Amino acid sequence: MKVELPLAEVYAVLEPGPVVLLSTAQAGRANVMPMSWHCMLEFEPPQVGCVVSAANHSFAALEATGECVLNVPSAELLDRLVACGNSHGDQVDKFASFALTAVSSAQVAVPRVEECWANLECRVIDRQLVGSYNFFLLEVLQAWHDPQVTAPRTLHHRGYGRFMIAGEEVQSGSAMR
Ligand SMILES: Cc1cc2nc3c(=O)[nH]c(=O)nc-3n(C[C@H](O)[C@H](O)[C@H](O)COP(=O)(O)O)c2cc1C
Repeated sequence: MKVELPLAEVYAVLEPGPVVLLSTAQAGRANVMPMSWHCMLEFEPPQVGCVVSAANHSFAALEATGECVLNVPSAELLDRLVACGNSHGDQVDKFASFALTAVSSAQVAVPRVEECWANLECRVIDRQLVGSYNFFLLEVLQAWHDPQVTAPRTLHHRGYGRFMIAGEEVQSGSAMR
């Protein structure tokens, strides 16, 4: 027997994964924030949509520079990810405070997070929905991954401090690319 799910909890059912660490930089200062409201929009060139609240410090940097990196952490970074989400870049240098290593990117003036197993260097290609939904459309310009990480234990947000960790992988007959 099912019971009604409050609409305020719907996001946790459809929550896309994995949680990423969005890095930005403005005026020589880099920042990083966890972000789970993102979705793929195109295969090649890869395009990604994401929602960054205007209340977040990251919003201003992304809006002003049009550049970011989507860094994909795995489970061992959970505590640092949570710390980044509980603080704001105008008050805290999160790279220094939470022992994250900033390395230069190839295509954007925003550092990648070395501890993450994948890094997607992005630029904003469409801002039409920023005013109405804080929705940025990104194109991935260059991507990096650690080839030794074949089954990343990515983090998937379930709301209110809970996360699922990706685990079992199965091979099916799906025709989907
Ligand atoms: C798991 C998780 C997912 C989050 N997803 C988003 C998101 O998709 N968009 C957003 O604007 N904030 C999201 N946040 C909140 C920001 O990470 C948080 O407000 C952070 O402090 C913003 O940092 P900043 O002010 O330095 O930009 C998320 C936080 C957590 C912990």
